[in-house]
Amino acid sequence: MDSYIAMVYLLSGALFILGLKGLSHPDKARRGILYAEIGMLLAVAGTLLHKDIVRYEWIVTALFVGSAIGAAMAIYMPMTAMPQRIALSHAGGALAAALVGVAEYFLPNGHINSTVMAALAFEVLFGGITFTGSLMAFGKLQEIISGVPITYKGQNAVNISLFVLASAIGIYLVVNPANAVLFVILFILSMVLGVLFIMPIGGADMPTVISLLNSYAGLAGAATGFVLENNVLIIAGALDGTSGFLLSVIMCKAMNRSFTNVLFGAFGQVTATAAAPSAEKANIWSGTPQEAADAFRNAKSVIVVPGYGMAVAQAQHAVRDLATLLEKNGTSVKYAIHPVAGRMPGHMNVLLAEANVPYDQLIDMDDINPEFEQTDVSLVIGANDVVNPAAKTDPASPIYGMPILDVDKSKMVMVLKRSMNPGFAGIDNALFIQPNTMMVFGDAKGTLIKISDALKA
Ligand code: TAP
Repeated sequence: MDSYIAMVYLLSGALFILGLKGLSHPDKARRGILYAEIGMLLAVAGTLLHKDIVRYEWIVTALFVGSAIGAAMAIYMPMTAMPQRIALSHAGGALAAALVGVAEYFLPNGHINSTVMAALAFEVLFGGITFTGSLMAFGKLQEIISGVPITYKGQNAVNISLFVLASAIGIYLVVNPANAVLFVILFILSMVLGVLFIMPIGGADMPTVISLLNSYAGLAGAATGFVLENNVLIIAGALDGTSGFLLSVIMCKAMNRSFTNVLFGAFGQVTATAAAPSAEKANIWSGTPQEAADAFRNAKSVIVVPGYGMAVAQAQHAVRDLATLLEKNGTSVKYAIHPVAGRMPGHMNVLLAEANVPYDQLIDMDDINPEFEQTDVSLVIGANDVVNPAAKTDPASPIYGMPILDVDKSKMVMVLKRSMNPGFAGIDNALFIQPNTMMVFGDAKGTLIKISDALKA
């Protein structure tokens, strides 16, 4: 039986890798998810055949409870709440890893040598941090807790000291595994650390943090695999740990920010005074949906630039309807995708896919940037930082160096947003006062519907 289980685990490990590979492209993503789902089913089925399982009642009960919670989350949580949903999943996974560690430690017949103790300490430390850290991230994204960074003097020193203390307890336990009081202190301290680490990070940085916590949860899972001598847990944990870490690195790079800036920078502390001048004060071109429709009638090429505001307005279907009208009129329509537009990786891709926008019209930043110069109209829908020319021109700007979409080079820019307020970075955007930029104020979805109606008329 053991060799059958080993084969099943090997197969599920291969399916997990194929699943990750599929996720690297939108049109293979669904297939990738299917591979990963089959891999997980095989891993669970293989584990249920294990000879050490003597009673199934608790497992079956947990299976039903877990499936009911998972199904409810999948059915009722909207697409826009995806980062929160992921945070909750990580919290659950990390708590499971930490509790397995606690159970293994206190098992009456468990023999804990130094190697097992090292894995247990790691599992409990990272499991505990990820559990409470993910719950904090969930709370900030769901706005149950304020998204404003909560900071105090000497905060980073306190956090680092406590982490060093927790690590020291872990090392001491490797030498003296029998000290149960210290083990409990380590578990409690790790959960306190999860809260303290996330407190100073702004709500909008949560997607990067969640991706990093994902990698911690994976590492805790891999450590659990070593404790339980379970190969598929080691494989899945290692894949989760590395992919989560790489994703965080990619996100930081796309924002031109360092890890330390995200984790310790208290970024996103937008204040009211940071807002740009009002429409009347600044010399801006404010147009109506009718004027926008007139501009589109004469355009041969349009590039749509979606941003966070499109997600807030849930304007993806209205964008698709407008694009269909333009295409009927002979206009070429493409979508420019910035790697950190919105608030989570692939945010724009997911929303546009939901509205059935063909994948081949979604063009990555590096490929589309040379096209802006020849484009008649760039239609910016609720995007701000990712089209801010200050990233190229103003060395004093907090986003200086961040790669942006070069919409400022197109013949005409049309920006749909509600006001002159800044985006995530809390800074003014000179694009909005360029002579060739027309601002169409209002909720993006409503404005798009009005433009489409005007075009039809
Ligand atoms: P932002 O710079 O955040 O700008 C979004 C704009 O949408 C706002 O200026 C807002 O202006 C507008 N808006 C909000 N609701 C709207 C509505 N209902 N209708 C129309 N407009 C609306 O967005 P972006 O350009 O997508 O940039 C993303 C930012 O998030 C970057 O700074 C990035 O570094 C950061 N970030 C991204 C990620 C990932 S992974 N995507 C992770 C962490 C941080 P009004 O209020 O005037 O309407």
